[in-house]
Amino acid sequence: LTQQRYPVTRLPFSVVSSEDLAAFERILPGGVVTDPEVLEASNVDWLRTVRGCSKVLLRPRTSQEVARILRYCHEKNLAVNPQGGNTGMVGGSVPVFDEIILSTTLMNRVISFNSVSGTLVCQAGCVLEELSRYVEERGFVMPLDLGAKGSCHIGGNVATNAGGLRFLRYGSLHGTVLGLEVLADGTVLDCLTSLRKDNTGYDLKQLFIGSEGTLGVITAVSIQCPPKPRAVNVAFLGCPGFAEVLQTFSSGKELLGEILSAYEFMDAECMWLVTHHLRLASPVQESPFYVLVETSGSRAGHDSEKLSDFLEQALSSGLVTDGTVATDQTRLKALWALRERISEALSRDGYVYKYDLSLPTERLYDLVSDLRARLGSQAKHVVGYGHLGDGNLHLNVTSEAFSPSLLADLEPYVYEWTARQRGSVSAEHGLGFKKRGVLSYSKPPEALRLMQQLKALLDPKGILNPYKTLPAQA
Ligand code: FAD
Ligand code: MLT
Ligand code: ZN
Repeated sequence: LTQQRYPVTRLPFSVVSSEDLAAFERILPGGVVTDPEVLEASNVDWLRTVRGCSKVLLRPRTSQEVARILRYCHEKNLAVNPQGGNTGMVGGSVPVFDEIILSTTLMNRVISFNSVSGTLVCQAGCVLEELSRYVEERGFVMPLDLGAKGSCHIGGNVATNAGGLRFLRYGSLHGTVLGLEVLADGTVLDCLTSLRKDNTGYDLKQLFIGSEGTLGVITAVSIQCPPKPRAVNVAFLGCPGFAEVLQTFSSGKELLGEILSAYEFMDAECMWLVTHHLRLASPVQESPFYVLVETSGSRAGHDSEKLSDFLEQALSSGLVTDGTVATDQTRLKALWALRERISEALSRDGYVYKYDLSLPTERLYDLVSDLRARLGSQAKHVVGYGHLGDGNLHLNVTSEAFSPSLLADLEPYVYEWTARQRGSVSAEHGLGFKKRGVLSYSKPPEALRLMQQLKALLDPKGILNPYKTLPAQA
């Protein structure tokens, strides 16, 4: 599948031998998996669009074990593919050929939690949803949340610099991650501090946030958790047009101010997909667009008063035509599911062509309308949704099966359109294997050269996640 659809040649890494397997078994007694059935799931990505053929999966429990594995692989010139929950969207989490899969699944221990500062220190393989539960029991929340929370690992989140649903409120992991313990070529680089401020030279951890396993393996994370908001409301609203989606956002920022914590949007075709494929029920009348507005604050009465004012104005001015509000956990979750589960509904619709773009917010939906006209009946669905409050559009197209001619109509068109707006061809998913060839639409050649120099410095043999992130070298 991989080699056919994406032309790529195996680099001259060694092939895992029985001697290597014995060495791994000595480092990780019982942690070496060669069972083809278990390997099958780790060789295919979540979207089922790329597939590797790795014959070995390693499951270390400690940073020291990871260090020993990497030291060995570096010495023997064996390629390694770090893997967390395997929920990545750009084919970065699975091998392309026979790279060794290094999984963080068993590295799932919380190391410490400071209930005054809210600093959580944990191993990289902790599942995001479990960490959320852990800190919520202690009066805090994780600064990030995403639809893949039940499977993704915090190490994978940091490696991809995942954005998600709380970005509007708490910002990027570049701000909330305080420390990392990283290993490149078997060296333990201990930057696992919990300081809010630290200007002692270059901030090395930033280099690994979003490096997609190409510069080092993240084995532990120190992350700042904000206090758990006492009052959370979600309003799910129908809007008559995209202009109204934008005006409702402006009005929300003005009237909700500091309690606005999420502003997500989806179009009517997304609603069709989640109601049709997942049997979710729409809570509002049919509309061309829907928005999900979340408020988080410290006093329920104050917040609902503000939210009522906002909704009254939005309805009376015609920005919004219908809406519903939830405050209890069950209904909150049901409203969020309509938005969070779009990617799942899309994958049930057929082959998915996925684009994750940063664009000027005012022009964000023009590309969706433009493509709908351009592709006509070739596509099953052309949909737009995403983190509108962050200027992040998820543009997705589906077809019954993979079609090279449909792809040719999409690319480079989508990337050129985005570059003309000085947008980003990957807002939050990274480049991985599938998007590494399009980096130049968003970065100048000088930036690319510096990235290549950094890669050569930190991973001189290029064994860490080869074929990912950086374009193939000529
Ligand atoms: P994996 O998929 O296993 O790996 C992702 C990349 O990180 C790979 O390149 C891998 O090699 C590398 N990697 C993993 N662990 C490590 C490590 N310990 N050290 C070094 N490198 C490592 N993303 C968003 O930004 N926002 C969203 O809202 C969002 N929603 C999603 C919803 C769904 C339903 C799904 C399936 C995905 C979504 N994603 C979203 C994609 C997102 O990138 C991942 O969900 C998540 O951040 C990846 O974590 P993971 O543990 O699954 O990593
Ligand atoms: C989302 O926001 O739903 C995720 O980034 C996943 C996707 O883009 O499909
Ligand atoms: Zn997203």
